[in-house]
Amino acid sequence: MENSDLIKDLKDNVNEYMAFIKENIDKKNALVITHGCQMNEHDSEKIIWLLEKMGYTMVDEIDNADFIVVNTCSVRHSAEDKVYGQLGNLKNIKNKRKDLKIAVCGCMMQREESRNYVIEKFPNVDIIFGTNNIWKLPELLYSSYNGKKLAIDIEENPIGLDEGLGATRAYGFKSYVNIMYGCNNFCTYCIVPYTRGRETSRNPKDIIKEIEDLVSHGTKEVTLLGQNVNSYGKTLDFDYSFANLLEDINEIEGLERIRFMTSHPKDISDELIMAFKNLDKLCNFLHLPVQAGSTDVLKKMNRKYSKEDYLNTIEKIKSINPDIALSTDIMVGFPGETEEDFEDTLDLCRKVEYDTSFTFIYSVRENTPAAKMEQVPDKVKHERFERLLDVLYPIQEKKNKALIGQNVTVLVEDFSKKRDDYVTGRTEGFKLVNFKGDESDIGKIVDVKITDANSFSLEGEKLG
Ligand code: 5AD
Ligand code: SF4
Repeated sequence: MENSDLIKDLKDNVNEYMAFIKENIDKKNALVITHGCQMNEHDSEKIIWLLEKMGYTMVDEIDNADFIVVNTCSVRHSAEDKVYGQLGNLKNIKNKRKDLKIAVCGCMMQREESRNYVIEKFPNVDIIFGTNNIWKLPELLYSSYNGKKLAIDIEENPIGLDEGLGATRAYGFKSYVNIMYGCNNFCTYCIVPYTRGRETSRNPKDIIKEIEDLVSHGTKEVTLLGQNVNSYGKTLDFDYSFANLLEDINEIEGLERIRFMTSHPKDISDELIMAFKNLDKLCNFLHLPVQAGSTDVLKKMNRKYSKEDYLNTIEKIKSINPDIALSTDIMVGFPGETEEDFEDTLDLCRKVEYDTSFTFIYSVRENTPAAKMEQVPDKVKHERFERLLDVLYPIQEKKNKALIGQNVTVLVEDFSKKRDDYVTGRTEGFKLVNFKGDESDIGKIVDVKITDANSFSLEGEKLG
């Protein structure tokens, strides 16, 4: 079947499956457990939207749920182990509660090895689907309730099946919006190109319409999601870049903040750098994963830039926008990483001065090129990891402390976890700020004067 026919067929029939579940199934408390990145968080929002359409009520506790969906992540070994532990626990629960339904989805299910392992070791799993066919959930539930022992469907590549799916967003005032799916970069350590398939950009008209709808329902901030957002547009059949998309989104009336995740240093164009100067809604924040500071290691990683290229890009960005907050992903212990290579990573971190960082110990992913390279001993990896944090955290603290006395804007997200008369939110630079406030502040962008800071968060006082 052609992709377009498949999509039409699926979407024409989905209402019947949804109606069946809505009318014929009584026990409808559901829980979605999400592992991994923002992409997965947003996929879970789509799953919840479908479940609610079928009449499910979302609950927080396993004990209260009749249907549990585990949305999995494959990026590191530890993430997979966590899922297996959870499925073991659910197996015991299901032995006592036979009518409990369990679905497993997400990146692990896109990988044949993990999928087969789940099928073999956890026969109590009723439904399996992947990252590229969330729309199939109602049909799979229908099959499962009609006696199918394992209702399973996987789609290798993103083929536009997410178009038209709504999402029950965790917060109304800040929303994730997919702009593209998949990844074509094949960094040698990474499993994502094998789990999420080939890169596909959504049509800009669909993206803009989705954001306009969100804004009309109260969204103030959008985060544009994709594995490599700055290569957006390459699969469109007309000339339109990521910078063009940002310009068009910047025009949407009522929208106040734009963020994006994640960008690749090899695809940062001058046009995009200028957007940080020209677009008033684009937050003063760039997450630009470097992964490693050694040009040799970057080559082995297939990252397609050198240490100098990366530092030049950062210099350009800082010269256009000196106040920009910078964030990164860094990995230690990539195969063959020498002490000298690692020193290059520390040197780069000292030069860039990141405001935030996500740090990882390299984890072997089967069937990726790096899995076959000579590995760094665990002890060395752990020791380097500690040394990396010793460089990153004091810089973060210094940069946060430099904000003391300054006024910032904060999109207030929630009550603070530490004190109930405090609220918490993020600055444009993605820094967490806690300050005295109440329910009426939540969802608003407020002016705050920073009064204190540490490596991970700021404290402030509301102005006005
Ligand atoms: N081991 C450790 N970290 C990894 N990442 C991706 N693959 C691996 C791996 N095999 C990290 C990268 C990426 C982030 C999302 O996860 O830093 O940017
Ligand atoms: Fe993985 Fe590299 Fe693609 Fe990011 S750009 S998802 S690290 S292959």
